Amino acid sequence: MSMRRSLLIGCGSYLPERILSNAELAKKIDTSHEWIVQRTGIHQRHVAADGELTSDLALAASRRALEAARIGVDEIDLIIVATTTPDDTFPATATKVQAGLGAVRGAAFDVQAVCAGFVYALAVADNFIKAGQSNTALVIGAETFTRILDWQDRSTCVLFGDGAGAVVLRGYEGSGDPSDHGILSTHLHSDGRERDILYVDGGPSSTGTTGHVKMVGKEVYRHAVSKLGSVIEEALAANGLTAEDVDWLVPHQANRRIIDSMANRMKLPTEKVICCIDRHANTSAASVPLALTEAVQDGRITQGDLVLFEAIGGGLAWGAGLVRMGYPDLA
Ligand SMILES: CC(C)(COP(=O)(O)OP(=O)(O)OC[C@H]1O[C@@H](n2cnc3c(N)ncnc32)[C@H](O)[C@@H]1OP(=O)(O)O)[C@@H](O)C(=O)NCCC(=O)NCCS
Repeated sequence: MSMRRSLLIGCGSYLPERILSNAELAKKIDTSHEWIVQRTGIHQRHVAADGELTSDLALAASRRALEAARIGVDEIDLIIVATTTPDDTFPATATKVQAGLGAVRGAAFDVQAVCAGFVYALAVADNFIKAGQSNTALVIGAETFTRILDWQDRSTCVLFGDGAGAVVLRGYEGSGDPSDHGILSTHLHSDGRERDILYVDGGPSSTGTTGHVKMVGKEVYRHAVSKLGSVIEEALAANGLTAEDVDWLVPHQANRRIIDSMANRMKLPTEKVICCIDRHANTSAASVPLALTEAVQDGRITQGDLVLFEAIGGGLAWGAGLVRMGYPDLA
């Protein structure tokens, strides 16, 4: 059976130059490198420079993804930016990326699903491609998350960082075989009853301010472990696969303990789990494509590998996606 699907043909990322270590943070607030490492696995985070915007990070990651995919800007007919920290209330940060790239075809818009944003944006782009509405999509996760932190709140400010990652998807008419290349499936969920355990206390309609991140960490942790566990099982079952079939888990980088717990549940050895939380901290929508790009660039993830993405964030919103990397004819 012939079936249109989205191939993931390239990725790229960008991290701001400035690195903020735990030790530097410990000089400003009542915390310590040891506490942060033990509870989260984070050693440092990147922080955007003054005047460096989410669109700048997104644009840099996009250019690298296009180069890796060997795709010209003129071929792009869909740009989606997943972000919680847009440059402006409107228009969409994606339109700034579009203009920066010099792309003029198709649509550009943002998706807001906080830390699950990249998985959401990937699902949206995949469905546009499957429906035949788009053929070549740039899907970006980009954040200047440090701009919405309360730097006096030690329970949140130590956890996050800035960065961007991007992937290029391309429509392909392949066979319906689940072992075929491209995005095999995506699975999205949200539960608005849990809005209050992770939110920002501001917004254009409510306060007229941007606001700062508020979080009930223990509750978020509890939901993350159970909801990510179920959505991983859902993704595998939907494709008739088991955890043993997965070559790489590319998880959202929120907490090393949550990542380890997913790996244990799947009985995946640590070396099959892409983890960069020590250097990036939680970059929200950027975390999954940043981790993916790192592992593709250092040669761990290669053509034909089966990769499982998962992420959860404010909303609560969470999801997973299964992707077999690369082009069928190169496998
Ligand atoms: C935030 C998180 C690391 C906190 O770890 P925890 O083990 O739950 O720690 P607690 O919140 O119970 O705090 C334990 C103690 O450490 C203190 N503490 C909190 N932040 C601290 C910090 N940065 N440095 C030192 N101590 C800190 C607390 O005040 C508390 O002290 P107390 O026992 O005297 O009250 C953890 O809950 C977590 O990772 N949650 C999920 C967060 C997440 O993933 N968010 C993003 C989702 S996208």
